[in-house]
Amino acid sequence: MAINDPLGERRQEKEIIGLYYENFDEVMTSGEESERPWETPVTTQPQDVTTWIKDPRKIAAIQPNLEDFVHICRALPKPIRVLDVGCNGGYLYDYLTKSIFENADDFVYHGIDIYKEVAAAAAKEHEDASNATFEQGDIYTLVDTFGENSFDVVFCSRVLLHIPYFEKALMNLYLVSKTLTFLVLVVDDRDYVKKARIIDVDNGTSGYWFFRYFSRHFLDKVINGMYAYYRIISGSGRYDSVVVFKGGRNL
Ligand SMILES: C[S@@+](CC[C@H](N)C(=O)[O-])C[C@H]1O[C@@H](n2cnc3c(N)ncnc32)[C@H](O)[C@@H]1O
Repeated sequence: MAINDPLGERRQEKEIIGLYYENFDEVMTSGEESERPWETPVTTQPQDVTTWIKDPRKIAAIQPNLEDFVHICRALPKPIRVLDVGCNGGYLYDYLTKSIFENADDFVYHGIDIYKEVAAAAAKEHEDASNATFEQGDIYTLVDTFGENSFDVVFCSRVLLHIPYFEKALMNLYLVSKTLTFLVLVVDDRDYVKKARIIDVDNGTSGYWFFRYFSRHFLDKVINGMYAYYRIISGSGRYDSVVVFKGGRNL
């Protein structure tokens, strides 16, 4: 990709340096680059969130999952309060506005991202949207920040596959949602983590990148252990939609 690519894509090389089948939290937290090594590729990114909103290559892969989410939102009474965790540019807001909620009164959107620069850039992109807000926030402290049952639905796409402490993150997502939590991740035959080194050819930096795959067996164990009920919607896309319902199957 040329350096002056109009969509601003950087030149990156990805070198796979490990495949791990156990001790995922340890694997994902043991890099020497920073206290949170799994995040270093993100810290080196330019905080230009417009690529995540407007670059069809970045968002093409989750279109089937967004459709799944829209179908679920249609079934809920309006107005809906939506929390988007790991929102990046806030593409979900644009998608919902285009595809389902004609009036700003129909939903209230709140996007959070671990990087304050990302949240600020997303807010700037959406400064005319009266029903959208963005702020810096951490998936692991959602309950402390917002309190239980504070959003009707919680959306979390392509975040849990890059970070450790799945159970803690999921519990936070689950508790702040009133009806359901919608996850976008990859369900596979077994659990494993791929570790790669991402080399940024343009500015000479590198960082770790992790991609975690989840088995049904593992999801059963964790989610049933929370006395919750979930469904996997396996579409034709690259990612799976996993819906965790509040309250459990038998309530
Ligand atoms: C791969 S991007 C996915 C963006 C968008 N949700 C999507 O699916 O297109 C992952 C996002 O999660 C954010 N993130 C990483 N760790 C996080 C954390 N602990 N809490 C909240 N957001 C986090 C990153 O900054 C990044 O914007």
